[in-house]
Amino acid sequence: MSNPNPVPSTMTNTSKATTHQKRSWGLFFLFPVLVPVIAAILVYQLDSFDPAVMPLHELTQTPVIPLMSNDHMLQGAEYVGVGNLQGPEDLAYDSKLGVIYTGCEDGWIKRVKVSDSLNDSVVENWINTGGRPLGLALGHHNEVIVADAVKGLLNASGDGVVELLTDEAGGQKFKITDGVDVADDGMIYFTDASYKYSLKDYIWDILEGKAHGRFLSFDPATKETKVLLRDLYFANGVVVSPHQHHAIFCETSMRRCKKYYIHGKKKGQVEIFIDNLPGLPDNILYDGQGYYWIALATEVTPSWELAFKYPFIRKIVAIMEKYTGRPHTERNGGVLLVDLEGKPIAHYYDFQLSLVSSGNKIGDHLYCGSIYYPYIIRLNITQHPAITQP
Ligand SMILES: *[C@@H]1O[C@H](CO)[C@@H](O)[C@H](O)[C@H]1NC(C)=O
Ligand SMILES: *[C@@H]1O[C@H](CO)[C@@H](O)[C@H](O)[C@H]1NC(C)=O
Ligand SMILES: *[C@@H]1O[C@H](CO)[C@@H](O)[C@H](O)[C@H]1NC(C)=O
Repeated sequence: MSNPNPVPSTMTNTSKATTHQKRSWGLFFLFPVLVPVIAAILVYQLDSFDPAVMPLHELTQTPVIPLMSNDHMLQGAEYVGVGNLQGPEDLAYDSKLGVIYTGCEDGWIKRVKVSDSLNDSVVENWINTGGRPLGLALGHHNEVIVADAVKGLLNASGDGVVELLTDEAGGQKFKITDGVDVADDGMIYFTDASYKYSLKDYIWDILEGKAHGRFLSFDPATKETKVLLRDLYFANGVVVSPHQHHAIFCETSMRRCKKYYIHGKKKGQVEIFIDNLPGLPDNILYDGQGYYWIALATEVTPSWELAFKYPFIRKIVAIMEKYTGRPHTERNGGVLLVDLEGKPIAHYYDFQLSLVSSGNKIGDHLYCGSIYYPYIIRLNITQHPAITQP
C-alpha cells in the first residue's frame, strides 16, 4: 500500500493538467481493450450458470508425490488395436480367457486378446449396448456388469443379451452411470457421476463444482437398488477391496478416493482412502498382487488449481466453453500405483497424455484405457519401470 503502482495518466484525476489531445490518444488505445472487457462483463452478468465454492478444506494430506516415477511413459509404449478401439474407457481383465473387455464410444464392448506380440492382440466386437459403456466388471456367471453412461447398470452375458438391471434410485434417474465392481457375495457397487448432466456435458458438472454424484449398490438376489452415499463430486471408478472389507470410489473433481465399509463393525462408514491426488482420478483397478492402479485423467495444472479454488474462474471458463471453446490445458495424464492402505508407490505419466481413464497391470505390461485415444496404450514396466527420483 505504501508504494502504489503508477497509474496511467489518462485514468487519474491528478492528471487534469494533461492535454486534451493526450487524453484522446489514451482512449483510442484503450478502446480495443475495453470493448471485449465490457462484453465479457455483460455476458458474465447475464449468464445464469452458477458455480459453487468447493470444500477444498476437506483435503487432508499434502499433495501426494510418490518416490518413484516414470514421467515419460510414452517412450517405449505400444498401441493396441489402433483404429479398432475408439475411447476404450475401462479395462476388465478375464485371466481365464486371456482377454481384456473394454467399452468403446460406439457402444461396443470389445474383447482384446492379450498377447506378448502386438500382432496377435486381436480385437473382437463382443456386445453392443446401444449406449456408452464406461465401467466394466466381471460377474460370477460369465457375464460382464456394465456401467453404461446412457443406459444405466447392465448385465451383458455371453449369448449377446443385454439386460437392464437398474437406471434410477430414490426417484432420480442416473445421468452418467460410471464405475462398477462386483463383490465376492455378488453385490454390485457402482456410481452415478451426476444426476444433472449427461456424459457429453460432463465438463459442466466439473465446472459447476456441485455434488451431483451418488454411490450405490444393486443386489441381484432382490433386484434392489440402494443409495449408499449422495452429494459426491463426480463419483467415478469403483473397486471392492481384496478382503471385501470396503469398496473404494473416486471423486474426480475433488481429486480423492474414499472407502465405504461394506462388512464388519464399520459397515456403512466412509473414510478418505487417498486425497490431494496429483491429478483427476477416473477408474481404480486392483491388480490381484496387493496394489491398486488409479488412472489420472490430467494433472491438476495451475490453471485448474485456480479454477477449483475460485467459482468465478470456473464461470469464465464455462462462458468460454459456451461461446468459443475453453482452453485445453490437460496434460501429464497417467496412472498412480498405490498400496492397499492408499500409500502412493509409483506414478507413470507423460506430458503428452491426457484423458487416461484406466490402468491395469497384466503380466509385464501396464495397459491404459482412455476416453480419447483410438487404442489401448501399453508399456512393459519391467523394461521401463518407475524409478526413484533424486
Ligand atoms: C506384424 O505384422 C506386420 C504386418 O502384417 C508385419 O510386417 C510384421 O513383421 C509383424 N510383426 C511380427 C513381430 O510378427
Ligand atoms: C446376468 O445374466 C445371466 C444370463 O441370464 C445370468 O446367468 C446372471 O445371473 C445375470 N447376472 C446378474 C448379476 O443379474
Ligand atoms: C518385458 O521386458 C522384459 C525386460 O526387457 C523382458 O524380459 C520381457 O520379456 C518383456 N515382457 C514382455 C511380455 O514382452
